Amino acid sequence: MNKFPSVLECIEELTFEQIRSLLDVSAQNKIRFEDRQFAPYESYRKFVVSTSFLEHSTRTKHSFAIAIQKLGCMYLDFNAEKSSLQKGENIEETLLTLWHQGVDLCVLRTSVSHQLNEFKNLPPIKLINGGDGVNEHPTQALLDLFTLIDQGHELEGKTITIVGDSLHSRVTHSLVRLLPQFGAKVILCGPDEYLYDTKGVATLSTNLDECIQQSDILYLLRIQKERHNSPRHTQIYENYAEQFGVTLDRLAKFNKKIPVLHPGPANIGLEIGHDVVKSELFLGYQQVVNSVYMRMAILMAMLENRDKNIGHKPLAV
Ligand code: NCD
Repeated sequence: MNKFPSVLECIEELTFEQIRSLLDVSAQNKIRFEDRQFAPYESYRKFVVSTSFLEHSTRTKHSFAIAIQKLGCMYLDFNAEKSSLQKGENIEETLLTLWHQGVDLCVLRTSVSHQLNEFKNLPPIKLINGGDGVNEHPTQALLDLFTLIDQGHELEGKTITIVGDSLHSRVTHSLVRLLPQFGAKVILCGPDEYLYDTKGVATLSTNLDECIQQSDILYLLRIQKERHNSPRHTQIYENYAEQFGVTLDRLAKFNKKIPVLHPGPANIGLEIGHDVVKSELFLGYQQVVNSVYMRMAILMAMLENRDKNIGHKPLAV
């Protein structure tokens, strides 16, 4: 198998074989750690892993924190708000400092798209993209794929509709690159202003009812209000629930009992009805459960893949 990248920024950096292997290892992790088991591996005790979140997070940050510690690694919760970033130090210096302190891998969330690119060669610390601006969120897409397969929804020949603000969604951008590799047809559905040209990878639609009728799976997105700065994007909020909100009634109209996913946090009552969240169709909590197993698998692949030159070479100063 090809070497796992030492900086995981986007889905395209992974081969199909590597993705398959991540799915297999996630399934093994699910067995080993299920029912809140704490069964760390001796071989991971030597690693120090940090999360560095420069944007808010509940799910991604904490599932990484749990995955890191359940594997047996030492965990450093880097607190950006109390750090020297506030004194003007830049991220590169911060990562170099963490590296010299012994951190092997850092999960970085940043509001700047493609920022991890700047750190691909220096410093020699491994990096996982925990979401970079509107670019990608590869670990979310991978755990979504794992959840679908784990819940018995193989993707070959299936149609999955991603509903909402795809333009600003780093999750969509990763899913669009991942799901078709597993034979899924992807539709992006939402107001025109929230759709983007996927160069033919996904079909675009503004009609949710039509999409529901064709779909085997729905994936709902949060409206990313924090990323909207033009009236073109904000005027849509008013009728959004009516046009694009998914409720049990709406699904029942077409006799559809299909899985509904959401990466969270959800605007319950807007893009997703309270009734859907409480129903057996909703896989959101399974996504959260499985996030720990997939993130463990990603950490394992990246930590094990220690390049001779990375991790042992003293830095030139
Ligand atoms: C997403 C994110 O932050 O990119 N959530 C997540 O990581 N679970 C999506 C969102 O914020 O809407």
